[in-house]
Amino acid sequence: MKKILVTGGLGYIGSILIRDLLTQGFEVVIYDNFMMGAQHILDLMDNDKFSLIKGDIRDTEKLNNIIDGSFYAIVHLAAYVSHQLCENFQANTMEVNQNASIKLYKFASIRSIPKFIFISTCSNYGVTEGEKYATEDDQLHPLSLYAQTKVNTELELIKLAKTSKPRLTILRFGTIFGLSPRMRFDLLINEISMKATMGTKIQIYSPNSWRPYLHVKDASESIIQIINFETNDISSQIFNVLSFNINKNQLITEISKLIKVNFEIVEDGNDNRNYKVSNEKIKNKIGFEPKYNLIQGVVQIIEAIKLGIIEDPLDLKYTNDHIRWTNLDFVLE
Ligand SMILES: NC(=O)c1ccc[n+]([C@@H]2O[C@H](COP(=O)([O-])OP(=O)(O)OC[C@H]3O[C@@H](n4cnc5c(N)ncnc54)[C@H](O)[C@@H]3O)[C@@H](O)[C@H]2O)c1
Repeated sequence: MKKILVTGGLGYIGSILIRDLLTQGFEVVIYDNFMMGAQHILDLMDNDKFSLIKGDIRDTEKLNNIIDGSFYAIVHLAAYVSHQLCENFQANTMEVNQNASIKLYKFASIRSIPKFIFISTCSNYGVTEGEKYATEDDQLHPLSLYAQTKVNTELELIKLAKTSKPRLTILRFGTIFGLSPRMRFDLLINEISMKATMGTKIQIYSPNSWRPYLHVKDASESIIQIINFETNDISSQIFNVLSFNINKNQLITEISKLIKVNFEIVEDGNDNRNYKVSNEKIKNKIGFEPKYNLIQGVVQIIEAIKLGIIEDPLDLKYTNDHIRWTNLDFVLE
């Protein structure tokens, strides 16, 4: 049975991924500092194929003790995610998203772990012109500290992977949407769906800007396909992973077909990102096809809220920007 280390496995994407991995017969070890909470993992605590280690990705001593040659792959999700969180904690963001990621790859190399999957972002593209769909070879224009740390890490990992053992694959995800046990409502499709259901007004910045989106279940599936892909062909490769590209106006129009969206256009936002991205490479090389569309994702969120499965969805705990110094002090002890 293959054993997978998932850093940041308690997060929005990780909470889906670890369950999918367990279902598919993998043994799973999570390494996470509990920064975004851990309650949603209670159902797995008696699963003997699952273990949970509380630790910070910057704690090299702890990682040194944990990472041994028994792992088949490391999926590296742990990061400070969201523009605002990264701006609020800039030094920590550099340490966690960049320096610690590079050290983690070096540990994986020393321990001869066969595969290392680094989760990056399509935000790295920042801006694309007109009808151009960015491919993995196109120039990057990171417009935030968050994206800059991902770009810097990608470059360094690609360099290291030329002479190191773990086969490195970098997945650049579109903005994720859909339900997860660790829910986030600070991601655009989730936020629009949630606020429409709650009858709360949403502010839409830069309504003509385009973005690629990816359902969280498809994100998880793409990682598992990379873990299962046996050839060396994908070593040191970068793949865009997305379900569709859409601009915010179109997004509102589509979601409005399902539920009334109370929105206000705000033209002078400070987010200048506007990019369309191609997913041809992962389709052609791996055969990955996303299964979930926008409507499925939105309907699931509306239902979960209407049924009361998610209590008080406006609670700030469902956003990454709620983190305060107190939480971080606790994390770093
Ligand atoms: N959500 C998206 O739209 C999206 C899009 C593209 C890429 N990604 C990437 O996917 C990954 C996961 O994103 P997510 O949406 O699940 O975010 P998330 O914030 O829900 O999860 C991040 C997890 O990492 C953990 N973590 C943070 N700092 C840590 C540290 N110092 N040590 C150990 N654990 C730490 C947190 O506790 C959390 O469980 C990130 O690398 C992110 O950059 C996400």
